Amino acid sequence: MGKITIAIDGYSSTGKSTIAKQLATALGYVYVDTGAMYRAVTHYAIDQGFTDHNVDAPALIAHLPKINLEFVPNPTTGRSDMYLNGKNVEKEIRTMKVSRQVSKVAAITEVREKLVQMQQQMGKDKGVVMDGRDIGTVVFPDAELKLFMTASAETRAARRYKELLGRGEQVTYEEVLKNVRERDRIDSTREVSPLRKAVDAIELDNSDMGLQEQYNRVHGYALRLIQKQ
Ligand code: DC
Repeated sequence: MGKITIAIDGYSSTGKSTIAKQLATALGYVYVDTGAMYRAVTHYAIDQGFTDHNVDAPALIAHLPKINLEFVPNPTTGRSDMYLNGKNVEKEIRTMKVSRQVSKVAAITEVREKLVQMQQQMGKDKGVVMDGRDIGTVVFPDAELKLFMTASAETRAARRYKELLGRGEQVTYEEVLKNVRERDRIDSTREVSPLRKAVDAIELDNSDMGLQEQYNRVHGYALRLIQKQ
């Protein structure tokens, strides 16, 4: 039985990572959260003072060679944590502070070039489940299974709000909804690799469908494809 590449794209907080992690575990595949990579670069930019209302793109581009990203397995959670220049930044990259700036950083061509190249390297032997915005369109246009996940902005904001509250962040639902809408807008209208559904991707709308039900469907698609390899 051969290995396949699974690309999961879609809007923020659609449950992409939940499904991707479950799939990777069930299939014994590597899971790559590409959003974490854009978030880590954003965390670096904030730390260096390159972000304000706008991002100082030339300064960040000049620093790109100094940014070292790594996924390191965490034995406690059984998952991988994002390391930036040798430091675990898993917590920092999930904050609203990073969410507010990340779409602007992700719109910089040179940032995308660096990260896309790393992602292609990580998935070169297949057996990978990668989630993001441009995996099926740019990173692995030949992926055997492509999924595109959507849900209403309100449903997604409610999920993210609960998650942030659970982590002790002081936010309002309105602020989270605004951030979700703003990121949707920037991510899908940017010039480089805008978020869009690949023509051969299967669209999954989970506004009214439980994630478990969706996972069962997706797992079925994956198994059928793997058996054909
Ligand atoms: O999946 P996420 O919400 O953690 O992603 C954070 C941001 O990174 C998102 O607003 C858009 C950007 N992103 C991207 O442009 N391309 C990817 N492959 C993954 C994320």
